[in-house]
Amino acid sequence: MPANLPLPKPPESAPAGRVGGVSVLGTGSYLPARVMTNADLEKIVETSDEWITSRTGIKERRIAAEGEHTSDIGAAAARKALEQAGITAGEVDLILVATASPDMFFPATACLIQRLIGASGATCMDISAACSGFLYAIEMARHMIDGGAIRYALIIGTEKLSALVDWSDRNTCVLFGDGAGAAVLGRRPEGRAGRGILGTFMGSDGEYSQILGIPGGGTRCPTTRENFDQKLNTIKMLGKETFKQAVNAMTSASIEVLDRTGLTVDDIACIIPHQANVRIIDAIKDRLKVPSEKFFMNLDRTGNTGAAAVAIALDEAHREGRIRPGDKVLMVVFGSGLTWASMVVEW
Ligand code: UT7
Repeated sequence: MPANLPLPKPPESAPAGRVGGVSVLGTGSYLPARVMTNADLEKIVETSDEWITSRTGIKERRIAAEGEHTSDIGAAAARKALEQAGITAGEVDLILVATASPDMFFPATACLIQRLIGASGATCMDISAACSGFLYAIEMARHMIDGGAIRYALIIGTEKLSALVDWSDRNTCVLFGDGAGAAVLGRRPEGRAGRGILGTFMGSDGEYSQILGIPGGGTRCPTTRENFDQKLNTIKMLGKETFKQAVNAMTSASIEVLDRTGLTVDDIACIIPHQANVRIIDAIKDRLKVPSEKFFMNLDRTGNTGAAAVAIALDEAHREGRIRPGDKVLMVVFGSGLTWASMVVEW
């Protein structure tokens, strides 16, 4: 395997998309009520608060209640985003849901959320890009709004990863959590300070598809008793390899989107990275030479919430006043696939 993940360069003629014009009109997030601390995990697997904190930065994560599904969690975040945007569910033209833990194979979790929030006029689908899905979905919706096909899009990252974790595998069960974040996109309103989405970079590399995923339960490895007994329907990860690829991809993607938008890190007020491991974020900080204060982190309270991670962090940063009108925000994500993406938004 190459030491550095080769990031494809866009062709010279690649359309950049119109700069600005599509803005985030509102954000929302939701975390299930039940808190699972590292001390709780010490009772389940052979681990310690000291190991989890020092190796990951995670202190606690939220776990969905019995009967609380990925769609319910996503709907709760969506309602808050709509409220903040001042848009009714009936005005939503498109719902894109990024998730690796859908309620079921099909129908799409987006359709289930449509029903829950009453967005009867929306077209709905799920995006399967693991932890990178939220930015992938925003980029697709941006082009539909920019092209005039739709007016308002509701983008949701929602996960119930607790249902897909092998609770006897200490290598993975300490890492993940449940939650959802959402954003409403639309044309930049009159008088808004920021120009909206300034640029995006996305990439994938299926050569590394084996390092993180759920091997069983699909058509390749169906749910037979034997596969189930081997727990092939739970998350499997080569931690060290994933760690290395995450650092390389998120660093390169950050540099690439700054290049594309003609900005430097000094122009960025807040960086919101995928929340998987504090050591991954520290390594990116060092490589980009950015002070810690620029990074928004909530990993200690949420664990890794997959496609929801950057969505929840964006909402919390916004509501806490870490993002102010006119600020440039850099979001950068990485996930199974492999997939990665970065985006600069002027608020
Ligand atoms: O969202 C998608 C992206 N996901 C990620 O980016 C995650 C990337 N990977 C990571 O964050 C890290 O690789 C981990 C946190 C998963 C693991 O950290 P590490 O420093 O790579 O540890 P390791 O896998 O090398 O394990 C070191 C030791 C092993 O023991 P031995 O073999 O050295 O005796 C593990 O068995 O730590 C052991 N270990 C644990 N010990 C206590 C692994 N998990 C645990 C645990 N508690 N929960």
